[in-house]
Amino acid sequence: MSDQDTLAVEAARRRTFAIISHPDAGKTTLTEKLLLYSGAIHIAGAVKSRKSARSTVSDWMKMEQERGISITSSVLQFEYRGRKLNLLDTPGHADFSEDTYRVLAAVDCAVMLIDNAKGVEDRTRKLFEVCRMRGIPVLTLVNKCDRDGIEPLQLLDDVGQALGIQCAPINWPVGSGRDFVGVVERSSGEVLLFSNSGGHDVVPFERIKLSEAEDRIREPVYKQAVEDLELLEGAGELFDQERFLSGKQTPVFFGSAMNNFGIEPFMQAMVDLAPGPRTRPCAGKQRKPDDADFTGFIFKIQANMNPKHRDRVAFMRVQSGRFVRGMDVHIFRSGEGIRLAKPHTFLGQERQLVEDAWPGDIVGLYDPGALRIGDSLYVGDPVNYQGIPRFAPEFFARVRLKDPLRRKHLAQGLAQLSQEGAIQIFYRPELGEQDPYLGAVGMLQFEVMMQRLELEYNVHAVLESVPFRIARWITGDPKGLAWMKARRDYTVVEDRHGQPVALAESTWPLQYAARENPGLEFHDVEPL
Ligand code: G4P
Repeated sequence: MSDQDTLAVEAARRRTFAIISHPDAGKTTLTEKLLLYSGAIHIAGAVKSRKSARSTVSDWMKMEQERGISITSSVLQFEYRGRKLNLLDTPGHADFSEDTYRVLAAVDCAVMLIDNAKGVEDRTRKLFEVCRMRGIPVLTLVNKCDRDGIEPLQLLDDVGQALGIQCAPINWPVGSGRDFVGVVERSSGEVLLFSNSGGHDVVPFERIKLSEAEDRIREPVYKQAVEDLELLEGAGELFDQERFLSGKQTPVFFGSAMNNFGIEPFMQAMVDLAPGPRTRPCAGKQRKPDDADFTGFIFKIQANMNPKHRDRVAFMRVQSGRFVRGMDVHIFRSGEGIRLAKPHTFLGQERQLVEDAWPGDIVGLYDPGALRIGDSLYVGDPVNYQGIPRFAPEFFARVRLKDPLRRKHLAQGLAQLSQEGAIQIFYRPELGEQDPYLGAVGMLQFEVMMQRLELEYNVHAVLESVPFRIARWITGDPKGLAWMKARRDYTVVEDRHGQPVALAESTWPLQYAARENPGLEFHDVEPL
């Protein structure tokens, strides 16, 4: 096969996705089952034990365990029926929504996991909105069908209403709660009858015509399934690939991640329906995944994942071409060249050197400090992919040092945490880099910041509140900006790129400034 053919084949078999759900819907359980079914792990429970093993690696991650939230995101790669699946983990807690947003910038598809007793929950709704904004197609898995939940027809109606998307059930549950015995595949009219293995193994299932399954299923359960399917025939949506890819429709599956019921049909559909790597928007000539020249972009940076090594890892998604270990690439933002010498893939905390990677793959790069979130890397013609914007923070604080001699370390720690996107820094021009204001989307971010400053930078400090509630990036008329700066009742600071930002206690002074200076514009998302 020619290099070009290999590239096209490898790119076409990648499926890069994330699971979006409300905490407790079963994301960890499902992740584990996906790995189990792909043969990547052999015993159920490995991911959970990995979860706790991870938090002993780095102390600050203990918070994650104590609070039952996932702060960091990792990447899992596994193979299933000829496809390479890249699963990007997203933090469960809303305070880390920016991190989630960045992860979703790197996927081609999302799996929305819904607890069958709870329907669409708050966090799911928000994550779904991000997918919609980014045009990411969504597959839906209704989980915990082994427990009594909302009646499935009602549930789909609720999901459709809550999210404004059409639900197209691909299969349908037979029974619920203790009576959940299988799913009917709508396209074939066959029922997949599962047998319980206690969730530890791949469960075998039997495939028979629903009409022939009557004596295998309890009568009321069978009757209900037949009735439901008749209703669906009349009123249910049929799956339409185009509507799915354009985000108007979501194919829906039913199952129980805990019992491994419905996992296999879901995974089969994943590899059949989910789209392969897509072309990422960039200024100028677009790069298709199977373009020969390598390009990639950085969507996440994390330092000190292992405090013993004090390393900094940049997560890169390969966009086009073949990535090869040790290759020399350019960074569009700085114009610098960089050799990508020790690229890694991840399975939880385990790292493996990668020799090559293909469009859709995620590679961890050791970063000497040259890379930033949103960076485009390329060989050949320069490419600048659409960046990943930051959102206006809603919480503000300052850090006061207990020991003034640690000032340099504090500045270093804050700069690092800001580059990771863990917090935002706003400098006051008259003070230079001293005593900046800090912004976060959620309070937990500050807690993590303080812990990390202590553990990773040996900086003992206290968090002081400041009166701001609102931050807005300022663009437009420079005279308007000068007008604001000249007035003592406005606080104009600079973000990490030196862009002016107004901090305020409410929106009204900004509305006043906009009225007085019609050329001035305020933004709650960073202008790129
Ligand atoms: P998350 O990552 O989305 O937060 O959810 P996680 O997988 O940790 O699951 C949350 C709880 O829901 C767990 O129970 C898990 O066992 C349970 N669960 C997941 N999938 C299913 C399912 O298909 N059916 C049922 N009945 N329960 C399910 P837990 O009691 O919090 O933890 P554990 O002691 O079981 O580990």
